[in-house]
Amino acid sequence: MRLPAFRDTLEEMKSPLRAAVIGLGSMGANHARVLSELPGVALVGVADSDPERVAKATANRAFPGFTGIAALLAGTTPEMVSVVVPTGLHETVALQVIGAGANVLVEKPIAADVPAAARIAAAAEARGVALMVGHIERFNPAIRELKARLDAGQGGRVLQIRARRVGPFPHRIRDVGVIHDLAPHDIDIMRYLLGDEVERVYAEAQSHIATGNEDLFAGMLHFRSGVLGLLDINWLTPTKERTLTVLCEKGMFVADYALQSLAFYENYAAAAREGLIASVTEGPMTRYPINNREPLRVELEAFRDAVAGGLPAPVDARDGIAALAVAEALVASARAGTPVVVSEGVAPH
Ligand SMILES: NC(=O)c1ccc[n+]([C@@H]2O[C@H](COP(=O)([O-])OP(=O)(O)OC[C@H]3O[C@@H](n4cnc5c(N)ncnc54)[C@H](O)[C@@H]3O)[C@@H](O)[C@H]2O)c1
Repeated sequence: MRLPAFRDTLEEMKSPLRAAVIGLGSMGANHARVLSELPGVALVGVADSDPERVAKATANRAFPGFTGIAALLAGTTPEMVSVVVPTGLHETVALQVIGAGANVLVEKPIAADVPAAARIAAAAEARGVALMVGHIERFNPAIRELKARLDAGQGGRVLQIRARRVGPFPHRIRDVGVIHDLAPHDIDIMRYLLGDEVERVYAEAQSHIATGNEDLFAGMLHFRSGVLGLLDINWLTPTKERTLTVLCEKGMFVADYALQSLAFYENYAAAAREGLIASVTEGPMTRYPINNREPLRVELEAFRDAVAGGLPAPVDARDGIAALAVAEALVASARAGTPVVVSEGVAPH
């Protein structure tokens, strides 16, 4: 049987890519909406174990819905599949999709633990399909602008990156704590911006809502280059905030993921002597124009283009595993009360 991951004839190459979504909860419904609107893609089917969610997603739509994953895969032979089930099920569902020969986008975190993530990565490689991980903030226009400015050397050497990701507790998430659920976003962005890996971490975590998992934590990441990463993440704040501050020798960038805004506060006395900052004074602030776009749409466009072009996924298994390994080290550190070396760290790209 021909693998749906590959397109051989010109006719096949010109036809839209066949896409499917598994898991139609709060995030999966968005995947289905975006894929149904994406040029070059035809949403051919969706699946959820909850028949009500399937009925809602397929009402007045041309594509069929399924309550079983095997039926979806056999009935629609998709070429690209979004796996948007709860994190604890990522491995089982992703392996089924890969087994059917479809390219797969697994939502973040890539899996519940690093061994499960490694099994997904090995299966995708063996089957020759693309595996992308849904680290959506990579596709946030404010982060892309920030990355371009950092790479151009606008800030000089980076000293510290601080992320704040706080908001109310999402009652539907019971299988993982806030470290696994939210920290991979910012760990991934810090790795991406720095082109560096985390060497060791220290975290303090608390649980206030009785789920058995942490819902409040503060974490410190020590990157190999010496840059310090700070994570302030919780599910106990009555207002949503998603911000990132990058402190550099020549000034400070402040990005707001949610507003998709980026500003630079200049250090007027930006003279550095032999790597030491001579002085710091407040300089002018510049706010950059950002062409706002829905990050999920940009992410799914990138997945589509990788699949259509037979190219590597722009956020791959290595990225997913690296972020998860750091999240696991943070959990271990919070439990032990000591710094923890990241054992599964991978070489920078
Ligand atoms: N990238 C992001 O910004 C982002 C945001 C939210 C959630 N997520 C990730 O997306 C995933 C889903 O999160 P959510 O908030 O949408 O959860 P959710 O609970 O709202 O939805 C999960 C859906 O999966 C379905 N499901 C459960 N078991 C199934 C099975 N065996 N087969 C088919 N369907 C099944 C459930 O019925 C439910 O509809 C998680 O991994 C989460 O971390 C990512």
